[in-house]
Amino acid sequence: MKKIVLTGIKPTGEPHIGNYFGAIKPAIDLSKNSDVKGFFFIADYHALNFIKDAKLLKELTRKIACTWLACGLDPKKVVFYRQSAVSEVTELSWILNNVTSKGLMNRAHAYKASVDKATNEGKDEDFYVNMGLFNYPILMAADILLYNAKFVPVGLDQKQHIEMARDIAKSFNKTYGSTLVVPSELISESVATIPGIDGQKMSKSYNNTIPLFCDETQLKKLISSIKTDSTSPSEPKSLDSAIFNLYRLFASQEQIETMARRFHSGIGWAEAKQELFEVVNAYLRPMREKYNYYMEHYDEVEKILDAGSKKARKIARETISRVREAVGLE
Ligand code: ADP
Ligand code: TRP
Repeated sequence: MKKIVLTGIKPTGEPHIGNYFGAIKPAIDLSKNSDVKGFFFIADYHALNFIKDAKLLKELTRKIACTWLACGLDPKKVVFYRQSAVSEVTELSWILNNVTSKGLMNRAHAYKASVDKATNEGKDEDFYVNMGLFNYPILMAADILLYNAKFVPVGLDQKQHIEMARDIAKSFNKTYGSTLVVPSELISESVATIPGIDGQKMSKSYNNTIPLFCDETQLKKLISSIKTDSTSPSEPKSLDSAIFNLYRLFASQEQIETMARRFHSGIGWAEAKQELFEVVNAYLRPMREKYNYYMEHYDEVEKILDAGSKKARKIARETISRVREAVGLE
């Protein structure tokens, strides 16, 4: 039996370097092992909570699909699909609602952040909360449990959601007998949180991202705008800086060691940024070319996604049938 590794990205903005190192790359790397079966998808149902414009949702879905392929996903090896193409996930989500306590959902970070925001603004605590946001972790649990996933590669910010999926699976199994596979998160410690250009976590929500496939001019501009401290060029620089942390991700071991020595002996930030741009651009250029190709030949991508959805649906139906029988719907 192959280990099932599954992850999804929601189409809510331009894919960025944080998404790549936090989720996309670890997932694709794992899927190359012969004992692993990968399930990778575009979480478009989840995006409905953020994107209320049909044209924009389609455009962003297209970008995430092309991103997966440009980053090296092999559709012959993995199951690659759109979440909403397998609507069985909504049925499982509904069934899971009934074994999930409201208290568990009350503890979700995203929900709590919305409540805090409203409270700080003197508004009713649920002012920013719709049921899609409140139930977000249950749909995510359904994504994972529907395909019997054992491992879920994600960035650190998603850890709580996977823990909730685990709690929900256990609660279901306790009520109805062992039916669902209990999943675990896979967080690669060295890339747990990629910094953005302001030094805090890179995120679409913070407007501090370096998009994976922006053109060279924009890439250079973004890299030169990365926030640095005021140490002068001759002073030693901290390795715990956004510049070095990003450099580490793109450079070879030898380049990293040389750069670490230069940081210790003193390097101007402008020079360090130029070096960073060089390694990032060299790394991303071939991927950018593939991305542009798929964006221009999207009919090929749609065919790949349709074939993937068919494979996904087959597994989904098996799980749903097992679940329906366990709860007494069949
Ligand atoms: P964003 O925060 O930009 O909205 P998403 O929530 O769409 O990103 O994240 C998609 C995937 O990328 C998740 O697995 C998430 O953990 C990962 N990820 C996002 N930002 C980062 C980051 N700065 N560092 C590491 N992983 C990240
Ligand atoms: N919630 C994830 C995010 O915001 C996206 C996602 C949806 C996901 N379903 C998933 C990730 C299932 C892993 C597994 O990034």
